[in-house]
Amino acid sequence: MKKQYEENPFEDELIAKQWINSVEGEKEMVRDNESYPKLRKWFDSTSKGLLIDIGSGQGVCSDKINGYSQYIGVEPSSFLVDRAKELYFASNRNFIVGNAYDLPLENNSCDQAISLNVWFHLEDISQASKELCRVLKSGGKFWIHTANSESLEAWKDFYINPKIENNKMIGEVKVPVNNLSNNIFYLHTNQDIQKAFEESGLVVDSVNKVWKIDNKDEMFVIFEGHKK
Ligand SMILES: C[S@@+](CC[C@H](N)C(=O)[O-])C[C@H]1O[C@@H](n2cnc3c(N)ncnc32)[C@H](O)[C@@H]1O
Repeated sequence: MKKQYEENPFEDELIAKQWINSVEGEKEMVRDNESYPKLRKWFDSTSKGLLIDIGSGQGVCSDKINGYSQYIGVEPSSFLVDRAKELYFASNRNFIVGNAYDLPLENNSCDQAISLNVWFHLEDISQASKELCRVLKSGGKFWIHTANSESLEAWKDFYINPKIENNKMIGEVKVPVNNLSNNIFYLHTNQDIQKAFEESGLVVDSVNKVWKIDNKDEMFVIFEGHKK
């Protein structure tokens, strides 16, 4: 039986299609200009091996870096996993339906872990951090790119009449090319995210804020670190 986790709008076929249109239609915007170069720079500085991509969506990150011996994308939406296989499957790449809270990988098996714009969709960052720590080898590296909590007011502007419920913001969100008609954003602070990593046995080596729009604070933050 499928385990029960919080609602993930990307598991809905309509939202998955909107996300596919957005990612695949976005050219020379924040992903090309900021996210992928930052990912590549980090990746090129690490030693390669088995790489896990947590919340891999339609799989694009597998194609933005190279040199890994094996890439495994873990993604709860079967629609997105199907699209990832269609576009990016290769002998050293695979895409699996799975969840950040219960990663389908052995203990101490991964050399590197990446996750692009997933952590703000997770309610339980403590459980996700424990799972990240469990699957990484000792000395294994992680790169987590998520929303900068210092820019929550600017994030609210991306939502159209959002409903705020306790620790989450719900509603239609403006993304490039194709808005997502339903989305959930958890309001974790950067400090809470860092604490969850550290309490799980991970070491945070750097915290960098990226993508400044107008005169506001940067919209994203990247946590880079390793397992002791
Ligand atoms: C904004 S998309 C990013 C997808 C991909 N990382 C990228 O940047 O192209 C957010 C992704 O997080 C995934 N996600 C949400 N909850 C998750 C969970 N509990 N475990 C793993 N992935 C999750 C969604 O299904 C969705 O694919």
